[in-house]
Amino acid sequence: MGDYAVRAEGLEKRYGEKRALDGFDLAVREGTVHGLLGPNGAGKTTAVRILSTLVRLDGGSARVAGLDVARRPREVRARIGLTGQYAAVDEVLTGRQNLEMFGRLFHLGGRRARSRAAELLEQFDLAGAADKGVGQYSGGMRRRLDLAASMILTPSVLFLDEPTTGLDPRGRGEVWDSVRALVSGGTTVLLTTQYLEEADRLASHITVIDQGRAIADDTPDGLKDTVGGDRIEVVVAERADLVRAAEVVARVTGGEPARDEAELRVHAPVAERVAALTEVARTLQDEGVRVEDIGLRRPSLDDVFLRLTGHRTDVTADAGVKEAVA
Ligand SMILES: Nc1ncnc2c1ncn2[C@@H]1O[C@H](COP(=O)(O)OP(=O)(O)OP(=O)(O)O)[C@@H](O)[C@H]1O
Ligand SMILES: [Mg+2]
Repeated sequence: MGDYAVRAEGLEKRYGEKRALDGFDLAVREGTVHGLLGPNGAGKTTAVRILSTLVRLDGGSARVAGLDVARRPREVRARIGLTGQYAAVDEVLTGRQNLEMFGRLFHLGGRRARSRAAELLEQFDLAGAADKGVGQYSGGMRRRLDLAASMILTPSVLFLDEPTTGLDPRGRGEVWDSVRALVSGGTTVLLTTQYLEEADRLASHITVIDQGRAIADDTPDGLKDTVGGDRIEVVVAERADLVRAAEVVARVTGGEPARDEAELRVHAPVAERVAALTEVARTLQDEGVRVEDIGLRRPSLDDVFLRLTGHRTDVTADAGVKEAVA
């Protein structure tokens, strides 16, 4: 069946006039984490729902675990797990009860459901909280319970739709660890996200989706190279200093800084991040330039978009990408 766990070609999905997917292509290698990166409304959930047989495609074709999703949905379903964008676990039940309930829904039988629940609680580091109500779980714990629930039948392909949106950095880190553990156990993961950093940390390959189409398909490093890597950013207090700040940044980084006149901002790519930051800050101070803000910025989804499409996303909450420097 080849070495692709997921293969989609020219997927189309319309909702009335809206083309949620408009010729979407995707190829996910077996045993990898593949990131599907895109802003709100790009078509990520629609793609996941088609691939997991929850909605029917209007055009194109897709194979998951070697099986055509339109022709053999039931067999596909037996080989996949899905963690949706919104948590599916019951608040009133405990973590253990939730997993046992899912086990019985999947016809495991009482004893097997209990033992599988215990294994998964262990695997997802929830054994200590197994008998607490899910209402008392942190966001990260809930997400891990969600992951555990989608792993009851040990699927070969797991779809994770924005598994860390809304989590704090700690919860996000916990979920990342769980995803890494799954893949080391042989599961193929397709993960949707709005965070370039998340795709970078977890995925060996990233497809960028915009308006229902794949607009880039690359390794994280390849994608970051396209965008130009990390940048140093300086915001000056007075407009009159903008040109001088740009000169300093150009001199230190050896790069061509971009100037944002409206926001009094200068930014340029850097290689030696911290050295460049220190040097720029010191030189600006020596030259008497009043600085409002200075920092290093890792490329965000927004930067990727600007570079690939020439327009910005409407994502404003790409948290965790700005490293403020006091
Ligand atoms: N059931 C539906 N009925 C009508 N329009 C829909 C439906 N589902 C999705 N759409 C539209 O299709 C487009 C793609 O939506 P989709 O949910 O796939 O995006 P997404 O990338 O998952 O976004 P988000 O990051 O916000 O979850 C959007 O314009 C959305 O409004
Ligand atoms: Mg979505």
